[in-house]
Formats: sequence, C-alpha cells, structure tokens
Amino acid sequence: MDLFTWKKDLDLGVSAMDREHRELVAAMNAIHALHAEGAPKAKVDAAFVRLMTLTKQHFADEEKHMVAIAFPGLKVHARIHADMLGKVAAHYQRFQKGDGYLPPEFFDFLVLWLGAHIQGIDRKYAEHRAPAKI
Ligand SMILES: [Fe+2]
Ligand SMILES: [Fe+2]
Repeated sequence: MDLFTWKKDLDLGVSAMDREHRELVAAMNAIHALHAEGAPKAKVDAAFVRLMTLTKQHFADEEKHMVAIAFPGLKVHARIHADMLGKVAAHYQRFQKGDGYLPPEFFDFLVLWLGAHIQGIDRKYAEHRAPAKI
C-alpha cells in the first residue's frame, strides 16, 4: 500500500509546483514500497538520493516562483525549506550508517511534510498568486 495517496485538495493550482509535488509523493512512495518489500539497501539508498535531489530542485524552483510573484512570505518559507533539507539529510545519514532499516519516524516525517507543508505552508503562496474571489 502506498504511503501517501495524492488527493485533489493537495493541488495548489500552480501547475509546475503541482507537478513537482506529485513527483515528490511518487518518490516517497517508491522508498516506502522498496523498504516494505525488503529491497537491498543499495536500492533504497538510490530511491532516497532521488527524493533528496527532487526535493532540493523543488525547493529551489518554489523559491524562484515566490520571487517571481513577489510573495512577501518568501524569507520565512525559505527558512522552513532549509530546515526540512537538514532534517532529510539527518535521516539519510542515520540510514546510511545503519543496516538499511528506516524507522517509522522517518515515514511519519514524510507524511507530515506533505500534510503540513504542501497543504498548509505552500498553499500560502498559491493563494497570494490567486486570491479567492469574494
Ligand atoms: Fe512545495
Ligand atoms: Fe514549500
């Protein structure tokens, strides 16, 4: 079973960012599936590296988008991104040192990332771009 199922309400209406968010969800589900089926550590490692690469690219793209729309919350948002990259890197270091096991806390972190970050924090720039009509 997938770690996370894409729901329509995760779409922000910013097509490039929505596409990248879907890729991130797919990359997270790939790690989860490989880990659940007991794949060799090297395979899980490659999926983990792919998630980190996509994440770095996504955060950079998102920050560029926020600059382009003159989003006032950019600084705070960029700080949250930097903090998340640090947390992902720490999880990766622990994984590398270990025997290939990923603890439930790691997957909880991924789910929280999606739930809180995409639905909450990212939505702010989406709403800035397209304010709700009253
Ligand atoms: Fe995002
Ligand atoms: Fe973000």
